[in-house]
Amino acid sequence: MSSAEQKKQAPAKLWGGRFSEKTAASVEAFTASIHYDARLYRHDIAGSRAHATMLARQGLISNEERDLILQGLTEIEAEIDAGDFVFRPELEDIHMNIEKTLVEKIGPAGEKLHTARSRNDQVALDVRLYLREECRTLIGLLTGLQRAFVGLARRYQDTVMPGYTHLQRAQPVLVAHHLLAYYEMFGRDKDRLSDCLKRINVLPLGAAALAGTGLPIDREFVAAQLDFPAVSANSMDTVGDRDFVVEFMGAASLIQIHLSRLSEELVLWASEEFSFVALADSFCTGSSIMPQKKNPDIPELIRGKTGRVVGNLMSLLTLLKGLPMTYNRDLQEDKEPLFDTVDTVLPSVAIMTELLANLEFNEERLRKGMGGGYMTATDLADYLVLKNIPFRQAHAIVGRTVAYCIEQGKELPELTLEELHNFSEVIGEDVFPLLTIEGSVNSRVSTGGTSGRMVAAALAKAEADLEEGR
Ligand code: ARG
Repeated sequence: MSSAEQKKQAPAKLWGGRFSEKTAASVEAFTASIHYDARLYRHDIAGSRAHATMLARQGLISNEERDLILQGLTEIEAEIDAGDFVFRPELEDIHMNIEKTLVEKIGPAGEKLHTARSRNDQVALDVRLYLREECRTLIGLLTGLQRAFVGLARRYQDTVMPGYTHLQRAQPVLVAHHLLAYYEMFGRDKDRLSDCLKRINVLPLGAAALAGTGLPIDREFVAAQLDFPAVSANSMDTVGDRDFVVEFMGAASLIQIHLSRLSEELVLWASEEFSFVALADSFCTGSSIMPQKKNPDIPELIRGKTGRVVGNLMSLLTLLKGLPMTYNRDLQEDKEPLFDTVDTVLPSVAIMTELLANLEFNEERLRKGMGGGYMTATDLADYLVLKNIPFRQAHAIVGRTVAYCIEQGKELPELTLEELHNFSEVIGEDVFPLLTIEGSVNSRVSTGGTSGRMVAAALAKAEADLEEGR
């Protein structure tokens, strides 16, 4: 075969040297990831910049070659930013699209960029740089969401509402207490992300294909350039590790599940039956057939999107199961679920924050929601306990009292002392303040309870923490 013929058959693949046949079109289409990993271009270029700088410092390329590379990368980045870059699917992925274009731009110096590097450590670097950024953005968004809860809690600080267990009226609570419950949940989500960030923030570059390299590289220098506080310890682990993606997607799933639980409450609360809240018109949509409808589509969609976020986590876990050491092409399948999770969770947090800023509670309705549920029954039982009646007996006494109330169509505070004495002799006048809604709420002074005093302290602490950037 003449060399001209060879050229025709073995195409311009960066790895084409040992191949004598052209890649089948179907294979190119099947293996390409450029249509989704193109979004990693900034991170890929940042990694290449640091790598080239290190190569020159180590004498592996000249300073002139380094400058050509840096200049070429800057041009490429500007072209991609401007939408002028032509991505070529036959070059598979973002790494080779950029590298090939660099070679076309600057010639042989470009061919030195991949010295002491493999796409295996390169892609791990790109994903870490990308996720580090998204993770930090998400933490910021969650802080915004927490601020919205705290703002609402301040606004409705003294408003009382029914607290539920089993979705049955249970005990009265402050609206602010309910809202601060979400503040705590999303606070834990932030902690999880910060913790996850520690393991994302480790430099993989320098692991090369799987075994490290014999060339005199300086990984610590690259780490410092890219602001990584640590360098990965084992080259084989490094190229096969996607634990940090699993962790992020786990944390993200829990965030979406928290949003989904909140959404469910908002949908319920906005219903005619509850009417606890009104969602702003600008955050609802109408029905194409029923003119009277105002639908809570935003929380419904957030709730609905939970399925894909949890599904993405399952995809990745299943992807990793059964992978032998070290890099396997299967790992390319990590990106679409990860990107989808990022594209779903971040906007969900952002729009929920906006929605909360436009939420109104119906205080009159909340108060009405308190009647007919015998919500201070536990307070009566606790009162009996303080009069030295064992709790189980107190429980039974109050149970009988409630049954009587239902029969008589009366609320607990409406019973006379004589009526109460039919159930227990120890009850005195001092019971009545405890049977009111306010009395009940304010008696809950245990740490973390719903009394006005505890909630005021929790609110002040939340405000101070947010103020200090926690
Ligand atoms: N596109 C690949 C991925 O996302 C990059 C690494 C490919 N490495 C290789 N040896 N084929 O995983």
